Amino acid sequence: MGPLAFFLDLHPAVGDFHDDVIEGLSQEQKWISAKYFYDERGSELFRQITALPEYYPTRTEREILLKNAAEITAAPGPNAAVFEYGSGASDKIEWLLDGLDGPAAYVAMDISRDFLIDAASAIAEKFDLPVAAVCADFYGHVHIPEHILPEPGRWLGYFPGSTIGNMTPEGAARFLRRAGETLGPDAQFLLGVDLEKDTDILNAAYNDAAGVTAAFNLNVLARMKRELGAEIAMDDFEHDAFYNEEACRIEMHLRAKRRTTIALDGREFAFEAGETLHTENSHKYSINRLKALFEETPWRLETVWTDENQWFAACLLSNN
Ligand code: AVJ
Repeated sequence: MGPLAFFLDLHPAVGDFHDDVIEGLSQEQKWISAKYFYDERGSELFRQITALPEYYPTRTEREILLKNAAEITAAPGPNAAVFEYGSGASDKIEWLLDGLDGPAAYVAMDISRDFLIDAASAIAEKFDLPVAAVCADFYGHVHIPEHILPEPGRWLGYFPGSTIGNMTPEGAARFLRRAGETLGPDAQFLLGVDLEKDTDILNAAYNDAAGVTAAFNLNVLARMKRELGAEIAMDDFEHDAFYNEEACRIEMHLRAKRRTTIALDGREFAFEAGETLHTENSHKYSINRLKALFEETPWRLETVWTDENQWFAACLLSNN
């Protein structure tokens, strides 16, 4: 097949990264949004994470979706158009495309522009359907330019990978309400969510022996140096990831091994020894807390598929 049907660039400017870093480093608990992990290097490191023996989510979700593919792809009916939030390498759409009945289109949306265009173009080459790419931050409003797409039977929102876990439960509800507006009445939504499980398994998944997760975490500092000219002694920071039982989430931090500073734009942000820059939350849900979450949205839970260990869930939602 041919090139992209369209490319819509709503990408936040580099200035946003700059302003968000300044803002985050100025807080009592220093923090930066996890969305900034995904420059080209970070996207590649994340791809490596998904293949790690300790990192169960990707392969578990894949197993669930492939095992139930017939049922899942039958749900939206013929001519559904798939809108994928945070499409990354667009590898997870391949699990569905073969099974969908005459899908009308695939729209890939991601924040990492070059990665997005390459990945969506590869899908356009490989599959016989219109493929479009939207470079955007899914925390904001997205308007799909419907005139460019063929009339779909209905939209199927697709948000795999438990990326929704990066949001607080309130943020996740807000995101789902907005997705309901974007995709319209009658839409369906296939959501991948990581479930609560033994703490040791969770901690291992974010502290892999090969150190890829550490490199992924530290890359956000390297990115501040590369893109913003920040002065950072990289060796002063180390990866720190742990399960916070009370908040039901993995937290990732970059911990100062000794007193140090990050200098940016003539400002100095001081770290005490042991102080952290909070880089990510990855919330884990029980099925009951998921149900409570969906209650806060217009989406109705139709089906939950899970694996034999109940480590991960694929949820099919309906907007009606
Ligand atoms: C892409 C947000 C689902 O939380 O497991 C992997 C990102 N961070 N290892 C996750 C991540 C560290 C991942 N999500």
